[in-house]
Amino acid sequence: VKAAVFASGTGSNFQAIIEQEIENKLACDIALLVCDKPGATVINIAEDYDIPTFVFNPKNYAAKKDYEQEVVKRLQIMNVKWIFLAGYMRIIGPDLLHVYENKIVNLHPSMLPAFPGKDAIGQAFEAGVKTTGVTVHYVDAGIDTGPIIEQKSVHVFPDDTKDTLQKRIQRVEHQLYPRVINQLIKQERGVFS
Ligand code: GRF
Repeated sequence: VKAAVFASGTGSNFQAIIEQEIENKLACDIALLVCDKPGATVINIAEDYDIPTFVFNPKNYAAKKDYEQEVVKRLQIMNVKWIFLAGYMRIIGPDLLHVYENKIVNLHPSMLPAFPGKDAIGQAFEAGVKTTGVTVHYVDAGIDTGPIIEQKSVHVFPDDTKDTLQKRIQRVEHQLYPRVINQLIKQERGVFS
């Protein structure tokens, strides 16, 4: 089954997913990277691994529906069934959401519903919590509000900086996301193991 990853940034999670695929440990085929930031590092990673990309600049479109319709067209041509967001910094609009209902999944660096939105790691660090974490959830029309699929907690230690906390969270993300992706795809196939 084919999937697309949507990312806007450095792409460490995209890379973690691709590396699982290369080791034949991913239950789907990452057929496309969709990126809304020309020049983002994640594009170089896709090129290094020979993954096709669709890179666009939202400023070149009159409205969200215009680029989302273009994205849907490209996904459908490639027969993409799942969308995994990995640092895609845009709200998914109705044009995309309705075509891919219950098939769009996001990764967020906190224990939702705590610390939704931007800079969740910074928010948790500033709040002084002792535990934060990582959430994988279905995407709905809100910001980080969809049904939770899986979470993993991460300790915050007294001598942590935002940077050391971020690194610990990323290590958890890189393990958790490919595992949950496999779980979702196997569930869909009816293999409950
Ligand atoms: C991750 O922390 C993810 O949880 C959030 O955006 C970040 C993307 O990081 N949604 P990277 O580009 O995969 O390194």
